[in-house]
Amino acid sequence: MQTSVATEKGQRIGVPKEVFPGEKRVATVPDVVEKLIKLGFRVSVESGAGALANCDDDSYRAAGADVVATAAELWAQSDIVFKVRGPSSDEVALMREGGTLVSFIWPAQNPELLQQLAARKATVLAIDALPRTLSRAQKMDALTSMAGVSGYRAVIEAANAFGRFFNGQITAAGKVPPAKVFIAGAGVAGLAAIGTAASLGAIVRANDTRAEVADQVTSLGGEFVKVDYEEEGGGGGGYAKVMSEGFQAAQRAMYAQQAREVDIIITTALIPGKPAPKLITAEMVRSMKPGSVIVDMAAEQGGNCELTEPGQAVVKHGVTIVGYTDLASRLSKQSSTLYATNLFRLAEELCKAKDGVANVNMEDDAIRGLTVIKDGGITWPAPAPKVVAAPAPKVAAPMAAKKPAHGHGGASEPMSAKSLAILVAVAALLFWLIGSYAPAAFLGHFTVFVLACFVGYMVVWNVKPALHTPLMSVTNAISSIIAIGALVQISPVAGAVGRPDSLITWLAAVAIVLTAINMFGGFAVTQRMLAMFRK
Ligand code: NAI
Repeated sequence: MQTSVATEKGQRIGVPKEVFPGEKRVATVPDVVEKLIKLGFRVSVESGAGALANCDDDSYRAAGADVVATAAELWAQSDIVFKVRGPSSDEVALMREGGTLVSFIWPAQNPELLQQLAARKATVLAIDALPRTLSRAQKMDALTSMAGVSGYRAVIEAANAFGRFFNGQITAAGKVPPAKVFIAGAGVAGLAAIGTAASLGAIVRANDTRAEVADQVTSLGGEFVKVDYEEEGGGGGGYAKVMSEGFQAAQRAMYAQQAREVDIIITTALIPGKPAPKLITAEMVRSMKPGSVIVDMAAEQGGNCELTEPGQAVVKHGVTIVGYTDLASRLSKQSSTLYATNLFRLAEELCKAKDGVANVNMEDDAIRGLTVIKDGGITWPAPAPKVVAAPAPKVAAPMAAKKPAHGHGGASEPMSAKSLAILVAVAALLFWLIGSYAPAAFLGHFTVFVLACFVGYMVVWNVKPALHTPLMSVTNAISSIIAIGALVQISPVAGAVGRPDSLITWLAAVAIVLTAINMFGGFAVTQRMLAMFRK
């Protein structure tokens, strides 16, 4: 119903079937079609466009889209085309003159494609050219959503090629140690990989040249492994820079050691506009245990591993090296849904009036950044956006480093010191009041209670989350202090007051047996769990 109203005036968004060999994603999904129609657009989908992402023609029809039989028909009738991959030459030829295209374009790598599109007098929004530092633009950031899916999939590919469990297990058939995973590069893809590998139970370590990501690595359950060399790796805008020779040598030494120790390496290191840094040498691959796995996510940019073959999974020196360049497409339903949502958010920005007419407003920083061709004129590259989300630590380009490791962010430090002082003052006042008015008997117990809280806090606070279970079992054992109560009941001292009651004696004896099981069992479990974390 709503469709027919919009049909009269709204622009038509067309979604063709992707033509790139092996590409399974689609630029919109039925749920998002409904939302685009609510914005006033009409939507056409080429028949079979979503077939490889589990979206059939009927589901698009049910959502209000028109399903057209051929690509030619689709391109001819669409005012705006939503695509995943940049168009092929054949597709550019099908494009309506003066039409609008939204897709990945990679303008720096594809100057000839830009020329072809400009010749069609097109307006082109390259989703990869979005200014990522604009917080307002994050909802449209398809690079981030695709990298997140890919990082997840990289771990699944690694698990598939690896012959063991990720988590440590104690089974009747023996003890299985947890897999050790090393992630090189903790950008979006790397952080997704860290979270996924940690959630599968592996011991995860990670390294990045940008020291500021150390806290993010830790918060996802990984351990940040530092290179023993002081140099800041940030090159501005949240991206990395090429590091000095000295740093690279120190990093190679550290990576060589990790290669010998770990079972799985996932590499995601990338410096925009540069070939991927070669971090894993052939020698390091040779030093890995047989059956180990490397997933090289940077395969398309030349690879972080010397032995990677882009697009292939190969076994070299007993190590499986996965160089797939289509990781997001391998999780097509998920990545299509996220991508479709990113494009819907963009459509909202383009059509604030909800009248089904896209307005490419070049005054808007986000839209300006995305627009690489406007009405046939190449507008790429865009000037840097004026507003940034976070005060990025960027100075001029040739900035050399000085800032040592991480630290807790200057701004929050005085704040926490201040609140700590207030807390201490309030606590002191409270204790003084209690000390002045409470009865003497209460004070004794209260002092023990406060000390117990303090000791408990100090013990638990510095324990890694991974060790919480062994800690629980040890505290469980300690809680068996109840045994002392039972011993007092059973001992002759109890009899000093009166004749020992035989029922109490028996109950105390049972309590001693049970708490002994709890106590020694707790220590035994702790011992076995800790053994899993030892190398
Ligand atoms: P990103 O730019 O957010 O992250 C790259 C990270 O590598 C940054 O944190 C950077 O500091 C770090 N890095 C750079 N040089 C380094 C070095 N020498 N040592 C250690 N760390 C270093 O990029 P994002 O989005 O996380 O993508 C990561 C990689 O995965 C890219 O190469 C990207 O093209 C690729 N990718 C591959 C896919 C596939 O299907 N194979 C799909 C999506 C992304």
